[in-house]
Amino acid sequence: MNDPKEYGEKSRDEEATPPGFYSAPKRVAFRPVRPADLHEIMAIETASFSSPWSTRFFLEELRDPRSHSLLCEMDGQITGYIIFWSLAEVVDIHNLAVRPDCRQKGIGRGLLAAAIHEAQCAKATRMTLEVRKSNEPAKRLYQSVGFTAQGVRKGYYADNGEDALIMVMNLECPVS
Ligand SMILES: CC(C)(COP(=O)(O)OP(=O)(O)OC[C@H]1O[C@@H](n2cnc3c(N)ncnc32)[C@H](O)[C@@H]1OP(=O)(O)O)[C@@H](O)C(=O)NCCC(=O)NCCS
Repeated sequence: MNDPKEYGEKSRDEEATPPGFYSAPKRVAFRPVRPADLHEIMAIETASFSSPWSTRFFLEELRDPRSHSLLCEMDGQITGYIIFWSLAEVVDIHNLAVRPDCRQKGIGRGLLAAAIHEAQCAKATRMTLEVRKSNEPAKRLYQSVGFTAQGVRKGYYADNGEDALIMVMNLECPVS
């Protein structure tokens, strides 16, 4: 498994780029998660959450017929992923994470936008999720695409008893 600490290190390409120049990635792709991706995904998962999903839990999620997944791959490296469930007209986001050294570059918003598009194509009318009350980056991301806080689940997180904010977005313009 990759050591999450390695994420802070610069690649050779970055080191070769003169200051002031932006080295654009050669290839960006969004695609469903495959079991073979779990090695890389688990490194992001454990670096991102205090109570990460296990590999086994991921596999069960991916096998569930209600589950959909997308990952973002840049130059062949996984930089983030989103897992969401389609439940009739409601799509529920179960997991979203971006590799620590790739954050604040629009990847989280890109993954969310791709999931919203899939939900609209599937004629869903609403998207929902739970987020820790203290998770400001995630709350801001969700608000920036149109989610609003609609309630609280008291003591939802088992590790520290933190409350979850329930956030909802109405999908008013399903894709025809
Ligand atoms: C939350 C997370 C997915 C955001 O991914 P990201 O790729 O860094 O987000 P983006 O670059 O697309 O940012 C989109 C918006 O989110 C908000 N945002 C993201 N990171 C932020 C930060 N550190 N502080 C404040 N706002 C932040 C901003 O509004 C930003 O818009 P802007 O760039 O126009 O200001 C990422 O921080 C992460 O993986 N966190 C750990 C796992 C997690 O908490 N997942 C959510 C579980 S509910």
